[in-house]
Amino acid sequence: MISKNIQLDEQGRLKHFLSIEGFKRQHLISILDAAEPFANVHEQAVKKVPLLRGKTIVNLFFEASTRTRTTFELAAKRLSADVLNININTSATSKGESLLDMLHNLEAMHCDMFIVRHNQSGAAHLIAQHVSPHISVINAGDGCHSHPSQAMLDMFTIRRHKKEFANLIVIIVGDILHSRVARSQIHALNTLGVSEVRVVAPKTLIPTQIETLGVHVYHDMQSALIGADVIIMLRLQKERMQGALLPSEDEYYHQYGLTEQKLAYAKPDAIVMHPGPINRGVEIASSIADGPQSVILEQVTNGIAIRMAVMSQTLGRSLNIKPPKQITAIAEESH
Ligand code: CP
Repeated sequence: MISKNIQLDEQGRLKHFLSIEGFKRQHLISILDAAEPFANVHEQAVKKVPLLRGKTIVNLFFEASTRTRTTFELAAKRLSADVLNININTSATSKGESLLDMLHNLEAMHCDMFIVRHNQSGAAHLIAQHVSPHISVINAGDGCHSHPSQAMLDMFTIRRHKKEFANLIVIIVGDILHSRVARSQIHALNTLGVSEVRVVAPKTLIPTQIETLGVHVYHDMQSALIGADVIIMLRLQKERMQGALLPSEDEYYHQYGLTEQKLAYAKPDAIVMHPGPINRGVEIASSIADGPQSVILEQVTNGIAIRMAVMSQTLGRSLNIKPPKQITAIAEESH
C-alpha cells in the first residue's frame, strides 16, 4: 500500500494522485464534489476556466491510450494550463536516456505536473519519490496495479445515476487478474461504502487472495448478476497474459460475455459500465454496449471533469485555489 504521506502534503492537501489506497472516504467525496461544477464547463461558449493559467502539464504515456491521454489533455486545456505531449518513441529515452534523467530535464524546463502511464507497476510512485517538491505526479495507469483517475470517473458516473453508494451491489466481470482498473475500483467502492462488490471470472483470471480486498468471488455469471445495481465489464488483457488462461474467445463470451439474456438477471435499472477499450462480441454484446442501460460513453465524458478536479486540487495547492462551487468561465470576448 502506498503511504498517504506521499500523496498528501503536510497540510493534508492532495499533492500526488497515485493510488486510491491511502485515501479516506472524505478525500474521495471531495474529488467527486469538486468535479461536479467542472462537468458543465463544456456547455459554456468558451469551454475554459482560468484556474491553472501559467502551469505546465506534461503527458508521459509509455503505453497506448486513447481515453486517458486525451481526456487528461482536454482537462488541462479546459483549466487553461499549457500541455506538452511527449512522444516517447521519438524522445531521448529511445537513445538510452534513463526515465529519471528525462524527468530531470523536463523539470529544468519548469514543468509543474507529470501524468504518467507505464507498463511497470509502481512507475508513477517511483517518479513521485524523485521529482522536486513543487511537482505533482498523477498515475494514469501502472502495469496491473492502479488506475485511480479511472476509478474516480467510474465513481462519479455511479453517483450521478444511483445518488448514494450505500446499498449498491456492484459486479466486476472479466480479467480481474490483469486489471489495474478493477483494483482501483474495488478500493474506491469499499471506501465509499457500497453494500457488496462481486468479482466474476474464470478461476484463471482471479488473483489469489482477492477476498482480502473485501470482495465476493463468483465463477458463475448468472448467480453474480442477481440483484446487481451496477455491472462493470472488463477487457481481456491479452497483451499481459502469459500462457493459455482461456479456452477460446467464443467459450469466454458464452460464459462471461454480457448479453441481453444475462443482463435480465440484474435489477431492471442496473447500469452497464466498461472502462474501454471494448471488444464487442468478446466481453459485451453490441446491443448492450449501445443500449439504454449502457453508460460507457458517459464514463468517457465524466473523465474530463474528474481529471480537472484532480489537477486543480493538486496544482491548486500552490495557487491557494479553493474548490469552486460555481465555475466562472473565461469571458467569450477575451478570445
Ligand atoms: N480506460 C482507459 O484507460 O482507456 P485508455 O487505455 O484508452 O486510456
